[in-house]
Amino acid sequence: MIDKTQNRLYTLKRPVIFAHRGASAYAPENTLAAFELAIKQNTPAVELDVMLTKDQKVVVFHDLSIERVTGIKGNIRQMTLAEVKKLDVGSYFDSAFEGERIPTLEEVFDFIRDKLLINIELKNYLTPFDPLPELVASLVEKWQLQASVFFSSFNPIALIRIKRQLPQVPIALLAPEGKLGWPARSRLGELCRYQAIHPHYSDVNAKFIALHHRKGHLINAYTVNNVSTMRLLFDLGVDGVFTDDPPLAQTLLNTLHYPGERKNDSS
Ligand code: G3P
Ligand code: MG
Repeated sequence: MIDKTQNRLYTLKRPVIFAHRGASAYAPENTLAAFELAIKQNTPAVELDVMLTKDQKVVVFHDLSIERVTGIKGNIRQMTLAEVKKLDVGSYFDSAFEGERIPTLEEVFDFIRDKLLINIELKNYLTPFDPLPELVASLVEKWQLQASVFFSSFNPIALIRIKRQLPQVPIALLAPEGKLGWPARSRLGELCRYQAIHPHYSDVNAKFIALHHRKGHLINAYTVNNVSTMRLLFDLGVDGVFTDDPPLAQTLLNTLHYPGERKNDSS
């Protein structure tokens, strides 16, 4: 049983704006620069992706391949941390970010500490039985960040495994967009006993929100960069949105008023 006073997923004012891969509209995704900007923009929460290197170090990175953000063919799982650290993942975004490195999860913990709520997405989709969940849990324990993190994944097994090690930290099941995400959004998905469901924004409607709120689940929708969609989701009563552009979401939110509705407890 989760103690809702013990994790910032529950105590932050809702809807929570998550800087998706950091403030990734303004800085290269999943880098310290993107997380630093999210802090400067007063974003309450950040989302990041984690995977393992060949030598089993937890790094913050999104893609299966390094090509999109480095121009080089290869993938993280076949590289050691020393090799990963040589990659420049800033230049593709803007020359002002030349030399930006892929951070380890520990470097991000050291940088953010408890300044933000951190949603850690476990990205071991091609290697679902690797020790990523256990290694991430151990780092959360080492940095004593149990109250400031929660976990998400499209892989329910990874969530069940990490929950075993850190039962007091919430887990969120990510649901793929559209028909493919039906099992995750249905009763089947609930078998992993999640605290939050993370659907694609196009799968969110009033019925979906009412159903999950009745069950005590939080609903955080990904990834919304368009003002009218944000407005629709806020009006429907989502608990959070993931966006590459946190100031856009914050500015919109500041113009909206939901008298008596924005509670800090979904139950
Ligand atoms: O966690 C929300 C979102 O990040 C899931 O998709 O591909 O951006 O990691 P992706
Ligand atoms: Mg992600």
